[in-house]
Amino acid sequence: MKALVYQGPGEKVWTEKDKPGIEKPTDVIVKVTKTTICGTDLHILKGDVPTVTPGRTLGHEGVGIVEAVGAAVQNFKPGDAVLISCVTSCGKCANCKRQLYAHCSDGGWILGHKIDGTQAEYVRIPHGDNSLYPIPAGADEEALVMLSDIMPTGLEIGVQYGNVKPGDTIAIIGAGPVGMSVLLTAQFYSPGRIIMVDMDPARLELAKEFGATDTIHVGSEDAIAKIMEMTGGLGVDVAIEAVGVPATFDICQKIVSAGGNIANVGVHGTSVELHIEDLWIKNINISMGLVSTNTTPMLLKTLGTGKVNPGRLVTHRFKLDEIIEAYEVFGNAAREKAMKIILTA
Ligand SMILES: NC(=O)c1ccc[n+]([C@@H]2O[C@H](COP(=O)([O-])OP(=O)(O)OC[C@H]3O[C@@H](n4cnc5c(N)ncnc54)[C@H](O)[C@@H]3O)[C@@H](O)[C@H]2O)c1
Ligand SMILES: [Zn+2]
Ligand SMILES: [Zn+2]
Repeated sequence: MKALVYQGPGEKVWTEKDKPGIEKPTDVIVKVTKTTICGTDLHILKGDVPTVTPGRTLGHEGVGIVEAVGAAVQNFKPGDAVLISCVTSCGKCANCKRQLYAHCSDGGWILGHKIDGTQAEYVRIPHGDNSLYPIPAGADEEALVMLSDIMPTGLEIGVQYGNVKPGDTIAIIGAGPVGMSVLLTAQFYSPGRIIMVDMDPARLELAKEFGATDTIHVGSEDAIAKIMEMTGGLGVDVAIEAVGVPATFDICQKIVSAGGNIANVGVHGTSVELHIEDLWIKNINISMGLVSTNTTPMLLKTLGTGKVNPGRLVTHRFKLDEIIEAYEVFGNAAREKAMKIILTA
């Protein structure tokens, strides 16, 4: 089979690789029908994630058809259509029992990280019963691919950890796929005002179409001053960081209101300066974490009833064997006006 293989910082190749087989009785082999590229894959290619070693097949999102199941798999059989979760979970360990699948003792984020991932013709999914979801008949597969990672990330780490409530004023810093997923899922809770902040004018335009009430263009506007002015000097109830750099975390700590929440979603590679001397008196909470994908069943229901349409995030489509070209487009997202890319086998 063919797979997109990481070969060390800056190097990747679409090449022939052995088709995965059942290694443990709980494994499921999935024939990938649609996958995508994540910002995290770009981080890996830059060499930012040293736990990914050369030879690894990348990718942790996608949908497919079950090809083979191990002897202990009960929920799936060959031919079933499935959604692949970016987080693998056994469903039985102490952390899984409290739905903290991100910290499963035999899983977590391992796909396209510690084991071979979904940017391939076939992928082995450990603990298939708990790590795959049946795809409802007639569902929009492109929209479903958004449920592997970005939609649960936005909902769990941005909206739920941030405790977005009806009427709230919230600010989302970063209008990439993850920030957009925060924007879409925050609307389940009817915030009154949603301020989107980014430096890409095209992404801010899209954010308005997706429900942002206000946008701020970093570069031509001072985000902190503008938000304080917009909120009568009070700040926002929830400040959500969806970039992963010190500058955007800093915006969050300057704009959070008394009693508010800072929900950090971004993956950070360097330390940030925490202004505890200003924040201690404000009765705020700061949250952060890795997505568990425990909200996937709920998101599947919202998709089924048309309450949300994450398929709107798809801007580009390629065949799976055009993945090198797709990486080129996704890696130049601002120039290409790219948000999410669908690769179809
Ligand atoms: N916590 C988790 O479990 C989890 C899961 C998935 C992704 N992530 C992280 O979420 C973050 C966002 O992911 P993404 O795929 O949307 O990334 P992305 O790079 O596509 O989007 C980031 C956006 O931030 C904007 N930006 C950059 N610097 C800025 C600045 N100084 N001010 C304002 N805007 C700025 C960019 O223009 C871009 O639109 C990443 O750090 C990613 O690794 C976290
Ligand atoms: Zn991802
Ligand atoms: Zn577990």
